Amino acid sequence: MILKGQFTIGLYTSFSLYIAKVFSSTQALATIGTIIKPVCLSIERIYQLLDMQGENSGKHEYLNRKIESIELNNVDFKYNTSEEYVLKNLSFKISKGKKILIKGENGSGKSTLIKLLIGLYTPTSGKIFYNRLNIERINNKSLRNRIGIVSQNIFLFRGTVLENILYGQTNRNREHVEKLIDQFMLTEYIHRLPRGLDTEISQNTAGVSGGQAQVIAFIRAMLSNKDVIILDEPISNVDAETREIMLRILKSRKTSSILIIISHITKGIDFIDKIIEI
Ligand SMILES: Nc1ncnc2c1ncn2[C@@H]1O[C@H](COP(=O)(O)OP(=O)(O)O)[C@@H](O)[C@H]1O
Ligand SMILES: [Mg+2]
Repeated sequence: MILKGQFTIGLYTSFSLYIAKVFSSTQALATIGTIIKPVCLSIERIYQLLDMQGENSGKHEYLNRKIESIELNNVDFKYNTSEEYVLKNLSFKISKGKKILIKGENGSGKSTLIKLLIGLYTPTSGKIFYNRLNIERINNKSLRNRIGIVSQNIFLFRGTVLENILYGQTNRNREHVEKLIDQFMLTEYIHRLPRGLDTEISQNTAGVSGGQAQVIAFIRAMLSNKDVIILDEPISNVDAETREIMLRILKSRKTSSILIIISHITKGIDFIDKIIEI
């Protein structure tokens, strides 16, 4: 058209400029959907958060006496995400001063049972009682303050071994830790760490071995003098030395609290008052 004289260069320049604007706006319109979708989702999540009930809603009782008994009454449990029941018709009673072994194959629901015991999940049906009080009515914080757990996945914080042991303890200090280590005959063991109690742990458990991390977590749990101590697989995935240490201490320790040991290996655990098989 320009060659034929029907269109001037000026017109053509304006045309190009404007058409580029039209295209870019249309493109923006086309992508608006992909931008706005995640926004909608986020708004939905915000509403879900705002509507969430606190985990202590309806839990008005405080556990302000030592835990003397734990009782499960026909407890069934399945996770929301699956159809299959993990625990079915579980009943037992544990009293203070007892050492309990919960045994069962991998995947049988042992760790799940612990999650129920500390109120992280609620039984699908059936009841759990602490001191004859229904867990559904017990304030979670007042319950968890009385329970010490060494879980399967140990997490240590950045800091020294001592700081990690004292983490969360308000009225314990270095002396208490040293005394306990002495009682457990672990003084030499701890001294073998590069700087003893002052050994730095950098990230998670880097700086100490898996077995040492387990022992540190164990000392942390024992120091706090809880009413219930739960050890999830304390002797399963550890080296022979750590296993021996754990067994020796667990065996020799007289306890006025409740000690729950979870394990799929039962070899060496012969100091138990009661075995619960899942
Ligand atoms: N958060 C979860 N959501 C759905 N299923 C789970 C969850 N945690 C564990 N499970 C399933 O529950 C069963 C029991 O798991 P778990 O209690 O960890 O067993 P154990 O500790 O005895 O090895 C397994 O089949 C596992 O896959
Ligand atoms: Mg487990």
